[in-house]
Amino acid sequence: MHCFTLRSRHPVSVFTVALLAFTIFSIPACGQVQETALSDGGMVSSQQWIASQVGADVLAAGGNAVDAAIATGFALAVTHPTAGNIGGGGFMVVRFPNGQSTTIDFREKAPLTAHPEMWLDENGDYSFEVHHRSHRAVGVPGTVAGFDKAHRLYGSSDWGDLVEPAVGLASDGFVLSEALAGSMARFVSGRASQYEATVAAFTNNGASYVAGDTWRQPDLGRTLERIRDDRSDGFYRGTTARLIAAEMRRGNGLITEEDLYRYEARERTPITGTYRGYEVISMPPPSSGGVAIVTALNILEEFDLSSMGHNSAQYLHHLAEAMRRAFRDRATHLADADFVDVPTQHLTSKDYAAWLRRDLDPERASVSHPSDVDQPYESPETTHYSVVDADGMAVSVTYTLESGYGSGIVVPSGGFLLNNEMGDFNAGPGLTNTSGLIGTEPNLARPQQRMLSSMSPSIVAHDGDLVAVVGSPGGRTIINTTLQIILNMVDFGMNIQEAVNAPRMHHQWLPDRIRLEGDAVVQDVVQALEALGHTVQMGGRQGSANSIGVNPLSGERMGAPDPRSADSGAVGASVSRVRR
Ligand code: DON
Repeated sequence: MHCFTLRSRHPVSVFTVALLAFTIFSIPACGQVQETALSDGGMVSSQQWIASQVGADVLAAGGNAVDAAIATGFALAVTHPTAGNIGGGGFMVVRFPNGQSTTIDFREKAPLTAHPEMWLDENGDYSFEVHHRSHRAVGVPGTVAGFDKAHRLYGSSDWGDLVEPAVGLASDGFVLSEALAGSMARFVSGRASQYEATVAAFTNNGASYVAGDTWRQPDLGRTLERIRDDRSDGFYRGTTARLIAAEMRRGNGLITEEDLYRYEARERTPITGTYRGYEVISMPPPSSGGVAIVTALNILEEFDLSSMGHNSAQYLHHLAEAMRRAFRDRATHLADADFVDVPTQHLTSKDYAAWLRRDLDPERASVSHPSDVDQPYESPETTHYSVVDADGMAVSVTYTLESGYGSGIVVPSGGFLLNNEMGDFNAGPGLTNTSGLIGTEPNLARPQQRMLSSMSPSIVAHDGDLVAVVGSPGGRTIINTTLQIILNMVDFGMNIQEAVNAPRMHHQWLPDRIRLEGDAVVQDVVQALEALGHTVQMGGRQGSANSIGVNPLSGERMGAPDPRSADSGAVGASVSRVRR
């Protein structure tokens, strides 16, 4: 099996410590994907094992969890191009060893000239294509500013050392897996074929790469060098900013150098809730995830879920009813709280959950009323990763380009993909219809507003001890995937790997149906749910929840990659942390 060599600006110290840590503590060693990893020190779990290894090496070299999260994020931008990014945005939730917590919001923003009608043509007709697939679908990227902010506030390693492994992976290349090579081939022969720079970046002189090829991305390597040397200025000013703005002009997009210059990541207070004595820490608006998860947990807390049995009809019915109510509120209230008044305290209170529970009938499904509000389209391509360091600092990151490979637009000479996150804004004023368009006010595109998200990076603690770092991709299913992992641990006593592996379900108020992963339940359960009044649909896989659990007694970290993703991997790091 081929292993790559990490580049470091201090090759002896970092690589030697990393190698030692690997030899002694790491499960898996090089290239073993999808396996549970155990460590007494640090742990990184992500959708792409090479990026997990980069993060684990930062931990082994003395970096803290924020450092490792930044290095993992930059590495994913090279090795997991469907969702890893510098041209997109996302959220980071941090819990410190003293139990305090914070979040960094690096969600994309609408450009200064954005407006609610920007996806309508001269006749006032809405275009899905322009909204989701054009240069006008691109939001001002936030990832580099978010990592820079997180590092300035809470990092401890040298910034350049965190970017350098990604520079090496881009410039020197890495060996493509079967899953990634296949996905890239489909991408370039499909919607990317119209973009010359994308085809150049994702093919070998026009020919598709195959598994086992080494994929080099020299333009991306140079962009990462600018970020390594100039931090976020290497992205939001100078060469990179000029390249982005030029591509926007070429494709009739809206983002200018001023938009890039003005982008700011924000530190925000987390959403917190309690569930059967556990503390849940998650992302506030512009994510809807934290609020929806806490609302659903509050509703469910009064029911004896464990006695119902895992994935029994009774259990799934109660879950669906809690999800239905949480998602109705999501559609009604959630948007960027810098622009819209979002009643987060009320929505996450136990009293409000009691009110929501009043009409939850254990024997009968409620009915969602489509006339209340319809919901917008969201794609299921994003990535989540989790980090815990030897001191117990925990970092939960979900970030995205929105669709797989985002807009499909690679910035010429920049070598990186731009997002299509503007698609998470509502289509246009008054455009609500039964096919799923939404035109309600709070989440319309306005200059500098951040589009509503479902990404829910979360952390669970108990009695002051860290218990788990969780989250997932999957559009609106993210909320329910994260919720079920928490329930699996708390109500059903599963360890984190069991909790991640367990089959999942989804209900999002509208459309009014339960979607079950293929192997979730037996036919009797489906029939029992239908008898309660539910519509049940069997679906494909739901999410990729690369998580970490911590044994409260021994402190042992369990890295749980999600077996639903072919290249996921968890990597442990040495306990011999160098404190700074
Ligand atoms: O922010 C959001 O909620 C969506 N743009 C996320 C898209 C997503 O999860 C795609 N994932 N797999």
